Amino acid sequence: MTISTVVKRHLETGTSSVRHLLSTRDVTRHDVTRWMARAEELRVMSAKDRQTILAGSVVAAIFYEPSTRTRLSFESAVLRLGGRVISAENALEHSSAKKGERLEDVFRVLGCYADAIVIRHHENDAMAMAAPQSPVPIINAGAGSGEHPTQALLDVYTIWRELGQVDGLEICIMGDLRYGRTVHSLLQLLTKYRNVSVTLLHPASLGLPEEMMQALRSRGLSIQTTQDLTSALSRADIVYQTRIQTERLSCIDEALGTEKFHLTSASLSVMKPSARILHPLPRVDEIHPEVDDDPRAAYFRQVENGLYMRMAILEDMVRR
Ligand code: NCD
Repeated sequence: MTISTVVKRHLETGTSSVRHLLSTRDVTRHDVTRWMARAEELRVMSAKDRQTILAGSVVAAIFYEPSTRTRLSFESAVLRLGGRVISAENALEHSSAKKGERLEDVFRVLGCYADAIVIRHHENDAMAMAAPQSPVPIINAGAGSGEHPTQALLDVYTIWRELGQVDGLEICIMGDLRYGRTVHSLLQLLTKYRNVSVTLLHPASLGLPEEMMQALRSRGLSIQTTQDLTSALSRADIVYQTRIQTERLSCIDEALGTEKFHLTSASLSVMKPSARILHPLPRVDEIHPEVDDDPRAAYFRQVENGLYMRMAILEDMVRR
């Protein structure tokens, strides 16, 4: 191939055909089913066979906000698939963001080094605005208090693995619904399933943003709010607990009344024997450690599922 053909191909390909994973709004039920099926295969595949899947690929992980699980599970997933990772942790301090570089430029630059970019950013919309400039897929690993689509995908994978279905379930979502990005992505994903009924419980100031509530209802999700913890827990198939996002509160008073929604051994006694408790983690004090040994506590299994779900997503999205 001559150099001019290569340049022409590059120009023809452009960046518009690149598929990004920015929001669960852009994910179809078919995508979820496909990724879950692949996650199941990857779970039992030999380490040797897995190593061939991303061999020769490089994934960039750039994190402007703190992370333990998301960054390390993405990195572990890439490495276990035989790819390599280049990463910038604490990018707000240690990258050229400190010099005022625009995210559009960051994507164009990293696109020269890597075959996909996994990014966590402190602003809700910045990565979606900049993504069209990226020559390689952008995977949202958490955007401000907006969205966290891969967490929601692993949440739905966990629900399906634990209970064998998502359709028809009674799901209770608790904690910080205002700033909790995992909740926002999960609720949007649940609109793709049939007859799911969602009950929300939250401290007075930390409810779901009203426009999000309207949008979910207009997409057919049955969603109600209650303060009656015992009744909500006794009906739930899934209890999805979340942490108060203290780092995002505008004042500490916003967190008033949170203890009322903590899960303890007393909560277990009102829950169905078949119910499951999920949490995106990190957990602070909203699930007491005494709950951990109950078989219904699924949050550490959820972490492991995340590794396989992220492998499936990466295999599909990394440009090869
Ligand atoms: C979540 C996040 O970063 O939004 N953590 C995670 O990625 N598993 C939840 C949280 O920080 O509370």
